[in-house]
Amino acid sequence: MLGSHADRQQQPTASLSTSSNLLHPASIIRMSRQIVIDASPPPYHGSLQEPLDRNAFQKSINILAARTPPAKTGFVLKAPVMRGALMNLPKIRSVDVDPSNPDGERLVLLRVSNEAELSPEALDFLKAEAKGLVPYTLHLDYDYWTSDEILQVVLPEELRDGSPSGFAATGHIAHVNLNEEYLPYKHLIGQLIMDKNKKIKTVVNKLDSIDTQFRFFKMELIAGEPNYVVEHHESECRFTFDFTQVYWNSRLHTEHSRLVELFHPEDVIADVFAGVGPFAIPSAKKGCAVFANDLNPNSAKYLTINVQNNRVNDLVRVSCEDGRQFIRAVVRRSLEEPFPAYTGPKTSRTKQENEARRKRQQGNSSSSLAPSFPRKRIAHFVMNLPDSAITFLDAFRGVLASDDLKEVYDVMPMIHCHCFTRELEPDRAEADIRKRVEEKLGSALASDVSLHLVRSVAPNKEMYCISFRLPSEVAFSTS
Ligand SMILES: C[S@@+](CC[C@H](N)C(=O)[O-])C[C@H]1O[C@@H](n2cnc3c(N)ncnc32)[C@H](O)[C@@H]1O
Repeated sequence: MLGSHADRQQQPTASLSTSSNLLHPASIIRMSRQIVIDASPPPYHGSLQEPLDRNAFQKSINILAARTPPAKTGFVLKAPVMRGALMNLPKIRSVDVDPSNPDGERLVLLRVSNEAELSPEALDFLKAEAKGLVPYTLHLDYDYWTSDEILQVVLPEELRDGSPSGFAATGHIAHVNLNEEYLPYKHLIGQLIMDKNKKIKTVVNKLDSIDTQFRFFKMELIAGEPNYVVEHHESECRFTFDFTQVYWNSRLHTEHSRLVELFHPEDVIADVFAGVGPFAIPSAKKGCAVFANDLNPNSAKYLTINVQNNRVNDLVRVSCEDGRQFIRAVVRRSLEEPFPAYTGPKTSRTKQENEARRKRQQGNSSSSLAPSFPRKRIAHFVMNLPDSAITFLDAFRGVLASDDLKEVYDVMPMIHCHCFTRELEPDRAEADIRKRVEEKLGSALASDVSLHLVRSVAPNKEMYCISFRLPSEVAFSTS
C-alpha cells in the first residue's frame, strides 16, 4: 500500500485562476485503462436572461498525487511507464509543492482517484521511486473554462452544436455575427467574450444591414461600454476611427500590404476610396505622396486624424469628394500643386526595404521610372470599393487629354480596381471582370494586366483586384 494514513489526512489543494482565453481540447481525458477525469464545467441552472452567475462554475476533482523528492521529479515525469498516468489537463501543472512542507517533497499529480486505476507497472514504479501517494483536490472555477466550454453547458441542448465560437477584434471591440437562434442569448455570449478576453471592452453583434453607400456595418451593443472609437494597429501604423461610422475590415490587411509593397517610394498614389487610410498611410510612411479621398465625411475626418497621428501630414492630402469627380480633378491637382520631390522614407525599416528593393530592381524597367521632380505624375490609382468601383472607370476617359498633362504622362498610371464576381472558376472570373472593365473604359486592356484573388466573401462570391495600365487611347481620348 502506497502512502501512509498521515499522508491521506493531508489534502493539498490547487486553486485555479487563469485568464487565458486559449481554446483547449475537450476536457474529458480518457486513459489507457478507460479511466475518465471529467473536467467539463458543471451543469448550469441559473437564469439565461440575467448576467451569468460566475460563482455557479465550481468543480472539485479528487485525484492522487505522488510524493516525490525534488531531485527525482524530472525522472518520474519522464519515465515511459508513467506516460498514461500523469495529470494532463490543460492549464494545470503536473507538479505542485506540498503546502504543508514547501521545502520538502513535490507532488506529482496523477490522473487517477485511486491506486487501483493505475497500471501495475506504474504502481510498481511509484512504489520504488516515490514516497507514497496522497489525496489531492483540484478546484476548477469560472476562470478555468473557455467561453466555448461554458457555452456548451449554458445554452439549450439543441443550440450547442454550432454555437458561436469566434469573434473578430478591432481595437477594444469584439464583433460577432450571431445567427437568429442565438439572439436570445446575445448578452450572455457578449459577457463571456468580455470575461475571457481582457483587452475587449465592448462587444457588438453585426446586424445584417450594411450602409449601402459608405459600406460600414450597422451593429448593436451586446456587452461592455458603448465606446466605438477604436485604436487599431496595422502595418506599423496607428488607425483611430469610429467603428459605427466608417468602413474597416481587418481581413483586408494582406491586401493592403500587397498593394503598398508594389509602390515605389517616389510614386504618387491616388486612393479614390481611401476609407480611414489603410492604403494611404502605410504608402506615405514609405515615402509615397498620396491623394486620399473618401466621400464619407466621417472617413475623411478620421483619415485626417490618422495622417496627423502617423506624422505623414506632408505626404497625404485628404479630400472628401465623389470618386468620379476626384479621378478627374486629381491629375490636374498633382500637376498644378505637385508634391515636393521624394526625400527619403519615414521609417528606418522602410528605408532598408526600399534599399533592398532598389538593388533588386536595378536594370529592370518599372512602372515608376525616374521620379519627376517635383512629383507631378500619378503612378497608381487605388479603387477599393468592390461593389461598384468598375462603374467609376469611365471617369478615366479623356482624363489626360490636354497638352500639359500629356507632357507629364510619358508613362500611364496603373489602376488597381477591386471588384466582386460570382464566377468561381479563375478563367471565367477573369473573363467576366475584364469584360466589365473594358466596357466601362470603352477600350481593350493591353498591357500589364493582372488579376489577384483577394478573398472569398461568400460561398458564391469572390473579391478580386484587377490591376492594369490605363490605356493611353482612353486617357488621351478627346471624344
Ligand atoms: C470598401 S471601403 C474601402 C476603404 C479602404 N480603402 C479600406 O481598404 O479599408 C470603400 C470606401 O469608399 C467610400 N465611398 C463610397 N462611395 C464613394 C464615392 N462615390 N466616392 C468616394 N468614396 C466613396 C466609402 O465611404 C468607403 O470608405
